[in-house]
Amino acid sequence: MSREDVRRTMASWEAESVAYQERHRPDLNRWDVLAWGVSNIPEDQIQALGDVAGLRALELGCGACQFGIKVAMRGADVTGLDFSANQLAAAEPNFVETGIRFPLVRASAEELPFADATFDLIFCDHGAMTFADPHATVPEAARVLRAGGRLVFNMSTPIIWLCWPPEEGPPGRELLRPYFGMGRMVWSESDPCVDWQLTYGAWIRLFRSSGFVIDDLIELRPGQEVDTTYSEFAPVDWLRDFPGEHIWKLRKEPS
Ligand SMILES: C[S@@+](CC[C@H](N)C(=O)[O-])C[C@H]1O[C@@H](n2cnc3c(N)ncnc32)[C@H](O)[C@@H]1O
Repeated sequence: MSREDVRRTMASWEAESVAYQERHRPDLNRWDVLAWGVSNIPEDQIQALGDVAGLRALELGCGACQFGIKVAMRGADVTGLDFSANQLAAAEPNFVETGIRFPLVRASAEELPFADATFDLIFCDHGAMTFADPHATVPEAARVLRAGGRLVFNMSTPIIWLCWPPEEGPPGRELLRPYFGMGRMVWSESDPCVDWQLTYGAWIRLFRSSGFVIDDLIELRPGQEVDTTYSEFAPVDWLRDFPGEHIWKLRKEPS
């Protein structure tokens, strides 16, 4: 990711932060359930993170830390990292409300300000792994994980990328763009935010060359009824038929 891309994506999040937190509070600030993605699939149902008690954990692109707070409630020693000052500032009321508090670091996920082998677990739910160049973030995550440590992250799938229209609108049931050549994407002329996606093969080669083994790829499928503030992502019937989000579960190989 170029420095210009980091600057423009950060500017987008700084501008959007207040409205984003307000709009998605009903999903994000539900403290009683740790759930993944736009359809709120419970962690207890899919066991993407599993037992986190006692783990040194990093949330990569933590936003206002709602997900990290729920991971900390399960006994992990969490650090939150985000490049947006406004998103990090939005964590404070959540710390006060829940009584859970952990260190926050303002930095970009492409250049992590941590020593090698600092963490046992790196996780995010549509965090920096969605917006930053994975050719930088995946090796960086591997570097700051100890051998045997895990990288677990949820993001949109290559399949939904193929089906989203060029401008706004729900995904269709036809392929609307080429699969090969998938990479950096700016979805809207009016929003400078950059997103990233790779083909399945390119993801797998990147994970392996960075020293990860793949434990699982969990394709999220909601039930018939979904209560969500992210309805613009995709209609429920689409998400019942095709995977719109998936969680990569990776483990750093012992050296
Ligand atoms: C959708 S939020 C994720 C937080 C939370 N799970 C949520 O759904 O609101 C995405 C976050 O990633 C952060 N982010 C995007 N690119 C980043 C980068 N290169 N380095 C650090 N944070 C980044 C944004 O600032 C934003 O707070």
